[in-house]
This record gives sequence, C-alpha cells and structure tokens, in this order.
Amino acid sequence: MRLGLTSAASYPSCVRSEASIEPAVASDDMAIAAMEADLFPLEAIDAGQVGYYRRRARALALVARARDGAVLGYLVGTIQRRGGEDTFWIITMAVARNARRRGLGRKLLTSASRWAGNRGVNRIKLQVRVGNRSARALYKGTGFSLTRRLEGYYGEGDDAYLMERPIRARVGAR
Ligand SMILES: CC(C)(COP(=O)(O)OP(=O)(O)OC[C@H]1O[C@@H](n2cnc3c(N)ncnc32)[C@H](O)[C@@H]1OP(=O)(O)O)[C@@H](O)C(=O)NCCC(=O)NCCS
Repeated sequence: MRLGLTSAASYPSCVRSEASIEPAVASDDMAIAAMEADLFPLEAIDAGQVGYYRRRARALALVARARDGAVLGYLVGTIQRRGGEDTFWIITMAVARNARRRGLGRKLLTSASRWAGNRGVNRIKLQVRVGNRSARALYKGTGFSLTRRLEGYYGEGDDAYLMERPIRARVGAR
C-alpha cells in the first residue's frame, strides 16, 4: 500500500509530516547506526563509522528528517578516486519501514547525486543484493543500470549486482 500524505491521518506523526533531506549531524549517528543494525545485521556500519563519513570532506551522510526531528532515512557515500577519475560510491542507504513509498529514497539519491556532481564527480555506483527487489526497483527507476553480477559478494550463494549511473557534473566544479 502506498501511504498518501492526504490520507495519513491514522499514521504516526513521523509518517504524516513532510520530511526534508539534510546533512546528518552528530546526534544522528546513533539513529542511523540503529537502523543499520536492524536492516543489515551482517554488514551494518556502526555509529563511529557514520561519524567518520559525516566528518570527511569527500564523503556524505544525508538524512531524511521528519518535522519532529526523527530520522526517517539516510544515505552514506564517499568519493573514491581511481585511474584519475572520481566515483561517488553509495555505502549504504535506507528508509524506515513506516516511511517507505513516499519518495524519500528517491529524494536521498537525487540530493547525493547533486552533491557529487557539484564536486566534479560524473559517476555514481553501488552494490545491491540480487534479491533486494525494492532497492533494485528504486535504482532502476532513478537511471541506474546493471553492470556486473558479483558472485558471493555477501557470502556463499548471496550475490550482488554492481549498478551505476552517470551524473551530470557541474562544469568547473572540483
Ligand atoms: C530501498 C528503499 C531505500 C526505498 O526507499 P523508499 O523511500 O521506499 O523509496 P521511494 O519511495 O523513493 O521509491 C521510489 C521508487 O522506487 C521503486 N520502489 C521502491 N520500493 C519498492 C517496492 N517495495 N516495490 C517495488 N518498487 C519499489 C518504485 O518505483 C518507487 O516509485 P513509486 O513509489 O512511485 O512506485 C527502502 O525500501 C529500504 O530502506 N529498504 C531496506 C534497506 C535497503 O534495501 N537499502 C538499500 C541497500 S542497497
């Protein structure tokens, strides 16, 4: 079911209120880490790692924040330079279960792309579990294409797809 904003009167306030996409702050580290541990028990990043990326100039930690301050979603990524070319890698992203299908995942990706493009990056990449249909649908719908299947990336029998999409880098950006 899709949670339309107009018919959300019966949902908690974090679902009802509009969210804004913002850079994460120190007090978000624990909230992000808690969602990570819940959603990705085997490969979660912890609060220390979130803080590390949040403070790095060439990395990004974004949150989707409800009006009441709650973290409804997040995206963490970093710029990597290989062969003279910068790529923005999405390390992790998620949206709280009760806030999904309201466009927050798409908005987080759009903001991250803009951030990377403003720094002269023209490619965005990520790995996604082959069986993660919702994430694959989100990425496909936002212009990512499958470039490779990574056998056993998440352990035996659990493959990943490498996905990527070009970013229109801002001319003259560094
Ligand atoms: C993947 C995830 C981040 C999507 O977040 P979201 O805020 O629900 O995504 P959006 O509302 O922006 O969805 C955008 C589009 O993606 C697609 N999509 C998202 N979830 C989908 C689902 N469960 N089934 C089918 N398509 C889906 C749809 O095309 C959707 O557009 P629509 O709602 O207009 O049809 C969220 O499901 C999540 O946190 N999953 C668990 C963590 C995870 O898998 N993270 C990614 C690791 S690589």
